[in-house]
Amino acid sequence: MELNIKDIIRALTETDKKILKFIENEKKYDFEISDSLNLDKVAVVNSIRRLISYNLINVDSEAKVSYTLTELGRRYLTEGLPEVFLIKILLQNNPINYNELSNLPLSKEEINAGIGILKRNSIITINNGIIKLEENADIGSISEREGALQSLSREEPIKDELINEFIKRGIVEKQEVIHQIISLNEFGKEVVNNSLFNEALIDKLTPEIIRDFKSKYYNVQFKTYDLNPNIPRSIFGKKNFVKQFINQIKSIMISMGFQEMQSNYAEASFWNFDVLMFKQDHPDRDIQDTVYLDVGQANLPNDLLSSVKKVYETGFNRDKYHFSVGFNKKFDENKSKEILMRGHTTATTFRYIYNVISKNKDKQFKFFSVSKVFRNETLDNTHLPEFYQIEGIVYGDNLKLADLMGYIKVFYYKLGFNNIRFKPTYNPYTEPSLEIQAFSNKLNRWIEVGNSGIFRPETLYSMGIDKNIIAWGFGLERILAISLGLSDIRQIYGAFSDLDLLRTTHEPINWVI
Ligand code: PHE
Repeated sequence: MELNIKDIIRALTETDKKILKFIENEKKYDFEISDSLNLDKVAVVNSIRRLISYNLINVDSEAKVSYTLTELGRRYLTEGLPEVFLIKILLQNNPINYNELSNLPLSKEEINAGIGILKRNSIITINNGIIKLEENADIGSISEREGALQSLSREEPIKDELINEFIKRGIVEKQEVIHQIISLNEFGKEVVNNSLFNEALIDKLTPEIIRDFKSKYYNVQFKTYDLNPNIPRSIFGKKNFVKQFINQIKSIMISMGFQEMQSNYAEASFWNFDVLMFKQDHPDRDIQDTVYLDVGQANLPNDLLSSVKKVYETGFNRDKYHFSVGFNKKFDENKSKEILMRGHTTATTFRYIYNVISKNKDKQFKFFSVSKVFRNETLDNTHLPEFYQIEGIVYGDNLKLADLMGYIKVFYYKLGFNNIRFKPTYNPYTEPSLEIQAFSNKLNRWIEVGNSGIFRPETLYSMGIDKNIIAWGFGLERILAISLGLSDIRQIYGAFSDLDLLRTTHEPINWVI
């Protein structure tokens, strides 16, 4: 709605009017406005924004330099500068031995600095440690310094050379503050001079006004409220949306009773692949897909390494329903010790299964992590070589596929996705396995946002676990891209990301479709 001049005047608050009057004849700094009118700084900022939105004022900015005393400066202001202190001593004891100065309440550095200044100004001479006040010394130039310190404390200007010296000595600090200069524009002048400007307005409705409206208040003028103000946006520091999303996901996982796992980016091939029963010649292990580090060999728990090797080579036989013949291939322990950038956080999950769950088999556990993984992948609109994975596992009694689907649905629902679907898929370490898909309006197709399943008995047998563990791993950036309505996952990071989106995205990030 376009407001006419009458509406604008009636929409102004008392503060707005005070400010307009104050700048009527002369432009003013923002701090002058709050100081002279005795107004709260925030109230002034709000008023200024409103006045800009009604196009009544012009705002320029100016950097102002100010000098303030540091803690040391404030101490010298009350106790005196070392150079002045030394002169006072010398006026009583001339000459004086340098060693005698050690009794003064000054540090060695301060004494030396003071002596340096006095020498440079030809006020003293030193010979063999004997300090002597010169006869015609210009002591006034030194006592001037105390005056300068006092001027600074009152924010009054002093000589440039002294400022520079005081800054170097840590007595004074230079600060640059940006101030706004506010002035009335032509339309603003018209408003201030309008006869309605001083009209009395009622800005609060009281029971009395309502009751006696017909008899007493029918004539009053109410303040106008602008319901669609065009307030200029201010840009301020905030968390990047990836960080916001991570926090949001962490609080969802915690609300569902999960505990966060801690982990490292670099892992042994063993935790990334072998415990999960990836074949040692599995293509995922290939240098094409995995980033290996040339940093020596990892330390592994020997008992686990040998039982994993056994299951791998010859399988196991627990009972007539639970058995495996293994891969019937040789297991190479050296391959297990290779160090790589983990390709999935399931490496971390298995560390927790071994370190925590296998040692507390009667308890129940729910763990999660939101952390980075690395794949030797070519960038495209749905792939990044380094991305965040949201991993979750549940250990308990009688866990089934329906439980897995339930947890996943609840998680996505809490994130604002009420339309996800499952597709049967294959993983070397889960059976059955389900891919999770969400619909991207931007790409106009279903995209994979995660993978899940029930860990195969082969992966748990060597740790002595015979209960089901359900687990999943979701791709954070893909979910975020859908939530933000991005068609390309690369727009989340770096030079591709939209500045405006970065500035305007706030928690919680909701699904946009
Ligand atoms: N690690 C799998 C991936 O990177 C995700 C997953 C985790 C699948 C746990 C099943 C169980 O895609």
